[in-house]
Amino acid sequence: MMEKFDVNNKKDIEELFNDCKKAQQLSYSPYSKTKVGACIWTKDHKKIYGANIENAAYGDCICAERTAMFSSHLQGNKKEDQIVLGVIAEFKGYAYPCGSCRQVMSELLPLDCQVIMFNEQGGFIHLPVKDIMPGLFTSKDLKNI
Ligand code: THU
Repeated sequence: MMEKFDVNNKKDIEELFNDCKKAQQLSYSPYSKTKVGACIWTKDHKKIYGANIENAAYGDCICAERTAMFSSHLQGNKKEDQIVLGVIAEFKGYAYPCGSCRQVMSELLPLDCQVIMFNEQGGFIHLPVKDIMPGLFTSKDLKNI
C-alpha cells in the first residue's frame, strides 16, 4: 500500500478489493439480504472498515460507506489523510453510493479522495469526491457560518 492510491496500479486495486470483501463479511443485513462492505485507506497506512448495519425499524439501517467514514472520524483520522474509499455490494452492478453517503463523503472526506465502486467480479468505476454529486451542498452554502 502506498501513501497515494493509484487507480492504474493493479496491486492497489486488488488489495482494496480484498479489503472491501473482508469488510462485507461484517455486514448485518438480515432484511435486505444484501451485504455491503467499504474500506478507507489513510496516508499513514491505516485501513478502516465499514459494513451496512440494518434494523427491524428499517429507517434505522445505515450504509457501509457511512459506517466506514464515521468510524474513521472517531478513530481520529484527519480528513486530509484519507486517500481512498472502496465499496463493494451484492448489487447487480457497481456499488454506487446512495445520496446520503455522497453527502457525508463531501463533508468527511477530502475533495481529492478517490471513491472506488467495485462490482462483484473486481471491475470498478472511480470518481474523486469532488465529482461524486453535482451541485454538492456544503457548509459554504450556509449563511451563518
Ligand atoms: N447500502 C449500502 O450499504 N450502501 C449503499 O451505497 C447503498 C445501500 C445498503 C443499505 C441496505 O442495508 C442495503 O444496502 C440495501 O439497500
